[in-house]
Amino acid sequence: MTLSSVVLVLLQVYSLHRMAVAKPTCLLEGNMVQSAHHLLRDLGGPFPILCLPYRANISFPDSAFPTAKANHIQCRRALRVVYESLQGAEQVFEDHGLPVGGGGVTWDREKLNRFRHLQHRLLEKGSCLSSVDSGVLPSYFSNVTAVLQQQDSASCGWMSLKRDLLRVLESTLHHQPSCFTWRHAH
Ligand SMILES: *[C@@H]1O[C@H](CO)[C@@H](O)[C@H](O)[C@H]1NC(C)=O
Ligand SMILES: *[C@@H]1O[C@H](CO)[C@@H](O)[C@H](O)[C@H]1NC(C)=O
Repeated sequence: MTLSSVVLVLLQVYSLHRMAVAKPTCLLEGNMVQSAHHLLRDLGGPFPILCLPYRANISFPDSAFPTAKANHIQCRRALRVVYESLQGAEQVFEDHGLPVGGGGVTWDREKLNRFRHLQHRLLEKGSCLSSVDSGVLPSYFSNVTAVLQQQDSASCGWMSLKRDLLRVLESTLHHQPSCFTWRHAH
C-alpha cells in the first residue's frame, strides 16, 4: 500500500464515522407542506354529503395530534403525524392506484401529480421521522383501505382520505408552525 492509499482509506473511515455519529436532522420544510396542502385542497370538490355515513368507518384519530404547544418533543410528534399520514396515503396510492371518481367526485389529475411529487420529496427529506412503533395510524389506514376496496364506497374512501390528510396538514401548519423550517420569514 502506498502512503496516499493509506491516507485515502483513513479519510474514508473518518467520513463514514462522521456520517454515523451525525444526528439526523428531522425537519420538514413548511413551504413544501403548505404547497402540498394547497394542491390537495384544490384538486377536488368539497366532501360529498353522500359520504357522510362513512365517518363511522373512517375517523382520523385525534389522539395522534400533540395537545401541547411546540416544544422539542411535541414538534417531533407533530411532524411525525404529518410524515406518517403522507406515508400511509402514499401506500394507499401504491396499492390501489389513483383515486376513482364517481358520485360527482372528480380529481384534477395535474394537481394530483404535483401533489404526489411533493409528497415523495417530503417523504424523502423527512425519512428520519419514520418509526416502527407507530400506534394509531395503521388502524386508521386499514379502515380507509376497507372502504376503498368496495366498489360502492371507493370514492367515499378516497374523499375521506383527502379530507383527513388535508386536516392533518392544515392543523399542524396552523397550530405548530414553528416546528417546520421556513425558507423565508414566516
Ligand atoms: C376502524 O373501524 C372500526 C370498526 O368500524 C372502528 O371501531 C374504529 O374506530 C375505526 N378506527 C379508526 C381509526 O377509524
Ligand atoms: C362501515 O361500517 C359499518 C358498521 O361498522 C359496516 O357494517 C360496513 O360494512 C362498513 N363499510 C365498509 C365499506 O367498510
